[in-house]
Amino acid sequence: MRHSTLALLTVVTAAGVSYGYAGSPADAPLATALNRTVSVTLPDSHNVFPPGEGADIANSQCMICHSAGMVTRQPPLSYDEWKLEINKMRSAYGAPLPENQVDSLAKYLTAIAGKPQGK
Ligand code: HEC
Repeated sequence: MRHSTLALLTVVTAAGVSYGYAGSPADAPLATALNRTVSVTLPDSHNVFPPGEGADIANSQCMICHSAGMVTRQPPLSYDEWKLEINKMRSAYGAPLPENQVDSLAKYLTAIAGKPQGK
C-alpha cells in the first residue's frame, strides 16, 4: 500500500497556525530548516573602549563585570550624569575604581559618549 511510506508532519508555529506536510520525513523542508547551525561573529569594537585620554581607566576598570558595549551603547549622558553612573557602579555593584579616578573617567566617557555641547 503506497500510503504506508508517507508520514504527516504537523508544525504549530509560535503564532499558533498549524499546517501539514505530507511526505517522507527525510524530505520535509522544515525538518532541514530546524536542524541548522548558525555561527555569529561579534564585532571586536565592542570589546575595548575607543582610544582617548582615560581609555586605559575604562579598559581596566569597566570591563571587569560587563562589556564595553554596556557602557558605550547607553544614551549620551552629561559629565555629572556619568559621575553618578560611575559612583553607582562603585557603591551599588562594588566596582574597585579608586575615587581619585572618577573625574578623569567621567571626562573620558563624556568625550566619547556624552551629550553634545550645550545640551
Ligand atoms: C567604572 C567602570 C564602569 C562603568 C563606566 C560602568 N560600569 Fe557597570 N554594571 C554592573 C552591573 C551589575 C550592571 C547592571 C547590569 C544590568 O542591569 O543588567 C552594570 C551596568 C552598567 C551600565 C548600564 C546602565 C545601568 O546603570 O545599569 C553602565 C553605563 C555601566 N555599568 C557603566 C556592574 C559593574 C561592575 C562589577 C563590580 C563593574 C566593575 C562595573 N560595572 C564597572 C563599570
